[in-house]
Amino acid sequence: MPDAPEPTRRPQWAALENHRADTLPRPDLRELFADDPSRAERYVVRVGDLRIDYSKHLVTDETLVLLRGLAEATDVFGLRDAMFRGERINTTEDRAVLHTALRAPRDAVIEVGGENVVPGVHAVLDRMADFAERVRSGAWTGHTGKRIRNVVNVGIGGSDLGPAMAYEALRAYTDRSLTFRFVSNVDGADLHEALRDLDPAETLFIIASKTFTTIETITNATSARSWLLNALGDDKAVARHFVALSTNAGKVAGFGIDTANMFEFWDWVGGRYSYDSAIGLSLMIAIGPDRFREMLDGFRIVDEHFVNAPAEANAPLIMGLLGVWYNNFFDAQSHAVLPYSHYLSKFTAYLQQLDMESNGKYVGRDGREVEWQTGPVVWGTPGTNGQHAYYQLIHQGTKLIPADFIGFAEPVAELSGELKDQHDLLMANFFAQTQALAFGKTAEEVRAEGVPEEQVPHRTFRGNRPTTTVLATELTPSVLGQLVALYEHKVFVQGAIWNIDSFDQWGVELGKVLAKRVEPALTEGARVPGLDPSTAALVAAYREFRK
Ligand code: F6P
Repeated sequence: MPDAPEPTRRPQWAALENHRADTLPRPDLRELFADDPSRAERYVVRVGDLRIDYSKHLVTDETLVLLRGLAEATDVFGLRDAMFRGERINTTEDRAVLHTALRAPRDAVIEVGGENVVPGVHAVLDRMADFAERVRSGAWTGHTGKRIRNVVNVGIGGSDLGPAMAYEALRAYTDRSLTFRFVSNVDGADLHEALRDLDPAETLFIIASKTFTTIETITNATSARSWLLNALGDDKAVARHFVALSTNAGKVAGFGIDTANMFEFWDWVGGRYSYDSAIGLSLMIAIGPDRFREMLDGFRIVDEHFVNAPAEANAPLIMGLLGVWYNNFFDAQSHAVLPYSHYLSKFTAYLQQLDMESNGKYVGRDGREVEWQTGPVVWGTPGTNGQHAYYQLIHQGTKLIPADFIGFAEPVAELSGELKDQHDLLMANFFAQTQALAFGKTAEEVRAEGVPEEQVPHRTFRGNRPTTTVLATELTPSVLGQLVALYEHKVFVQGAIWNIDSFDQWGVELGKVLAKRVEPALTEGARVPGLDPSTAALVAAYREFRK
């Protein structure tokens, strides 16, 4: 690992600050396009099936050179290579970071501690494929001999968001005769609603937990087991209705799931980077092993691009640097991701964990508090719905909110007739929004429409609101893999520049410990030593409010 001086003390940082002060907010996007008619073609990077247009950003060629200079100085590519080689770049947990090995080809060699991990990856993928086919074909039956019709994934965080998002994204590729549900919340309502119309004899539970100690998942899994056994009345039923996805065989066995029904992964796969591991089993049952492998191929296309493309044509690097530009030099607090595909309705929620759990850190890799901004707030929902809710603030609010627009030239193949025709209207909105955000509407243009003078300021759009447009032909399994890998590596780039460990998540631990401590106060009225007065009063009120 490079001995990194603080990024803000580097001359490259100062150069960007000076550049920001000297050149911006002028020239604006209208001027930039007027000055360079080729900008719309030049500021495009292609990776796999993705065409990524970053022409509507507040950057010039010089900005891009300076940003790449910062990436070079902070040795982003050096850290990238260390990650791909299996070095222990997750220093606070002393672990390798090798989600990229999950999509490596069979003949690749990637070593961790002298052992090639690739054969193990493919052995698990093969076992998953065999199991998925047996469920899909009806060969795997429940305890009473009935075929499995329902698959319920029980997990939280990375053990939920990835498979739930990808299932939604690839719904058009799923076996529609099977029902899939994803239960994560420890609020009993989640499991209740997921199970209330299901036949236990036809239901398979997939208990997904890297550690198999996560209280929400173990609590829901225990309740799911009771639900099953109440109906089927035989402990042996667990073996046909429960499988586990985990790195922790001991805990899986302790829970009562036969480790023969466990699909493993490894400590070098972070939870939020895990849905292309065994954690994707529910997805594989839904779309089938071949489609799942197509998705892995998509991930690999972007992995290879990230490793091989030069800096000036490297999509994750460019997207990461653009984020740094706004985050650190424009004080942008957030970043919107706005898919124009209903199937990507959970994509931004998935990215929230990927990005915010990775880069939401105020301590650097050297153990010192950072003096610069790190990860942004990531937010967004499918675009057209957002247009009628929060886009007002993106267009005319006082905050700068860089946004990614993701859209497809084709609707999914299942749509036909009028529903298929609606796609052009959807995409007309997609293009119109980035146009409006970039170029706005001047007061002169508003006046020319005959708008009364007192209304002119309200109807004027300043523009200069930066967006990236990611366009692909259609949302296939491969394209989904490409999109996810693109964001994984973008987050990596930013963490490298901010000099933080993007692969730990110590910040979530304190709340977990305190919840365990407070629980007896709620259930038994126990006195919890050291409870602060505010929380103690709230707990007392809670107990009074109970019926
Ligand atoms: O508490 C955060 C976290 O550890 C996430 O990083 C992880 O994805 C989630 O909990 C679930 O963890 P597990 O898969 O071990 O149940």
